[in-house]
Amino acid sequence: MICRHSDQHGGFVDTEQRLEIRTVASDVAQATFADDVRAGLLATPKVLPPKYFYDALGSKLFEAICLLPEYYLTRAERDILERHAGDILDAVGSPVEIVEFGSGSGEKSRLLFNAALARQPELHYLPVDISESALRSSADAMLDEYPTLRITGYASDYDGAIAAMRDRVRTGVRRLALFLGSNIGNLDERAACAFLSGVRATLDHGDALLLGTDLRKDAFVLLDAYDDPLGVTAAFNLNVLGRINRELGGEFDLTYFSHMASWDEADGCVRMHLASLVEQSVDIRTLGIRVAFAEGETIHTEDSRKYDLATVDRLARATGFERSMTWSDVDGRFSSSLLVAAG
Ligand code: AVJ
Repeated sequence: MICRHSDQHGGFVDTEQRLEIRTVASDVAQATFADDVRAGLLATPKVLPPKYFYDALGSKLFEAICLLPEYYLTRAERDILERHAGDILDAVGSPVEIVEFGSGSGEKSRLLFNAALARQPELHYLPVDISESALRSSADAMLDEYPTLRITGYASDYDGAIAAMRDRVRTGVRRLALFLGSNIGNLDERAACAFLSGVRATLDHGDALLLGTDLRKDAFVLLDAYDDPLGVTAAFNLNVLGRINRELGGEFDLTYFSHMASWDEADGCVRMHLASLVEQSVDIRTLGIRVAFAEGETIHTEDSRKYDLATVDRLARATGFERSMTWSDVDGRFSSSLLVAAG
C-alpha cells in the first residue's frame, strides 16, 4: 500500500538528502475516499470519517483552530511539553528516534527535538500524516531549522504507516512514539485499542509512547472549543463537503448545511455533525449517486473523546503498555502520559 516516492522538494541540496517521503499511491487513496463517501452518505444515519477533513485546506483550517482562544488543547499541551520535554527524554533514554502519528505542522514536536538534541548529536524523525502537503511543508521547515535532523515521512493514514514501520530494522536506538493533541479522541474504544496495539508492534520492550489526552471538563468550555464564535470550526467541518465537491464531483451547496457540536456527558464525548437546513438532494457525479436529505438530517463527522486516567490505564494495559508518568497543564485541562512498552 505504501510506495517509495523520491523527493523533488527542499530548498537546500543538503536538506534533500536528509528527507525521504513515502506516499500511499494516490489512486489507492482516491479509491478509499470515494468508497468511504459512498458508504457513509448512503448509510443511515449518515457518517463521514474525520480523516477526510485534512486535505490541504482542511489542514490549514485545523492550524487556525489551534490558534483560537477557545481551543485550549494546543496551548495546554504545549505548556506541558515546554516544562517536561527534558523529563520525557530522560525517562526514555538516549539515543532515541521519534515517530509521530498525525504530525500536522509539527510545532509541538520541536520542543521534543530540542530536548533530544541536547542529549544526542543527531536525530531521526518519522512523522506520519494523512496530508502530504502538511507533511512536506513541515518537513522542509524542520530540516532548515535543524541541521542534524533526518526525516522519513509517511503520507498515509495510521494503519498504512504502522504496517510499513513494522518491517523497518532498527538497532541501537530507543524509539519514542508521539500521539499528541488528543488525536486518540477520534477513536472509539475498539479503534483506540487496535491503534495502540499497532503502535506497540512497532516498538521494542522499553520504548515508549507519549499520549496526549484531553480531559473531561465543564460542558460550556468544551462546546466553546468546538463551536467557536469566529466560525473556524464550522468552516473546518463544512470543508469536508467542499472536498467532496472538488475531488468527487459533488454538488453540495455549503450554505444549506450548518455545523453542530454537542456534548455527550454519558460517553464523555464531543460530537460534531453537519445538519441539512432544508430537504434537498445532492448529486455526487463521480460516484453516480444522488444523496437525499430530510430537513434537519445530519451527517456525523467527528467524535472527540475526553479521557480520565483510569481509562488511559485500562487501554494501556490492554495493549501491552504500562503508564509510567503523567503530566498536566497548570489549569488541569489536558494530560500527557508516557506509556512504556511492556515485556
Ligand atoms: C485533531 C482530532 C484532536 O478532536 O479536538 C478540532 C480535531 N475537530 N476541532 C479534536 C478538531 C474540531 C481535533 N483532533
